[in-house]
Amino acid sequence: MKVGLIGATGVVGTTVLRVLEERRVPVSELRAYASRDRDVTVRFHDADVPVFGATVERLRRDGNDVVIFASSDDASAEMAHAAVEAGAIVIDNSSTFRLDPGCPLVIPEVNADAVQPQHRIFPVANCTAIILCMGLAPIAKSAGLRSVRVATYQAVSGAGRAGLDALEAEERGGKPNGTFAAPIFRNVVPQIGSFDAFGDSGEEKKVVLETRKMLGLPKLHVAATTVRVPVRRAHSEAVFFETERPTTREELARAFDVAGGVVYHADGIVTPLDVEDGDDVHVARLRPEADSLREEGMPSSRFQMWVVGDQLRKGAATNGVQIIELLLEKGLLRARTSAT
Ligand SMILES: NC(=O)c1ccc[n+]([C@@H]2O[C@H](COP(=O)([O-])OP(=O)(O)OC[C@H]3O[C@@H](n4cnc5c(N)ncnc54)[C@H](OP(=O)(O)O)[C@@H]3O)[C@@H](O)[C@H]2O)c1
Repeated sequence: MKVGLIGATGVVGTTVLRVLEERRVPVSELRAYASRDRDVTVRFHDADVPVFGATVERLRRDGNDVVIFASSDDASAEMAHAAVEAGAIVIDNSSTFRLDPGCPLVIPEVNADAVQPQHRIFPVANCTAIILCMGLAPIAKSAGLRSVRVATYQAVSGAGRAGLDALEAEERGGKPNGTFAAPIFRNVVPQIGSFDAFGDSGEEKKVVLETRKMLGLPKLHVAATTVRVPVRRAHSEAVFFETERPTTREELARAFDVAGGVVYHADGIVTPLDVEDGDDVHVARLRPEADSLREEGMPSSRFQMWVVGDQLRKGAATNGVQIIELLLEKGLLRARTSAT
């Protein structure tokens, strides 16, 4: 299978290379692209792969079976359809196609059924929304979901290489360079993206709309406040939710135990450093909300929990690679070239 990776020099692209290797995806040829021809190479299966500027013409010429976009909204808007016309399946980490009704927004553990044979473009959802849905899907299945409120603690690598560089520069005493809305070193910044007329940020709107789409609950009440914190990698989320029917912590714990890709911690805490470079999403501190009705073991409809996941892996690279595996499994992706 010939795979093209656009954005191979970025933080998501680099993670995609590692995940393709680790999961032994049958790649016969890898083509790496960035914003322009580069004199750097990327490592893939012990080989140095040259990096070329991505253009529509080049994609047409290269004839990839799969093109993974890990670049920008503009690049996906400009080149994804051309890649499809040239015969490829597109896995797109940008937000360009996520809310397009013609494109499924898939987390393989949650809604693999959303994939249909006619689909050619597979957006990978917002990283915060993927981590949230991994935590919420077992609950929705077990007791139904009526409402969700979430406050996030998002790593700087969510803003790409520039985000990591900005934190490192400030740690060394440099001045904030505008990557974030306020200084990030020794600070937290309650703005990710620009605000709309209601005061919601771009990131908050993505979390709300994409969560509804992935859970297949278009009317679900979701409210989000998204915050950047000086953590290098992995997003954390404080989630408050109301179930359709009263349930217990034990019943929800059982739902997590049978869900793929989720690790439930009955005791203790989990931090971003604990989950860095892992594919699982971790749930801890699950408990009924403190109110006058709370009694140990009694059913409740209102709970809160702490959810943490590496956003470069499950929130981006791993989820995209899992979609490729799912398409191969379903016979919906046939390589025109065989694996070596
Ligand atoms: N970071 C995350 O946690 C995360 C999570 C989920 C989704 N995403 C999405 O994944 C994508 C990549 O993000 P990132 O964090 O990896 O960013 P990044 O570290 O800034 O890397 C961006 C990559 O895209 C390339 N690129 C930029 N414009 C391009 C263009 N017009 N044509 C071809 N390549 C282009 C860059 O190439 P050069 O090296 O030549 O500049 C670089 O390789 C974005 O759409 C982002 O929204 C990111």
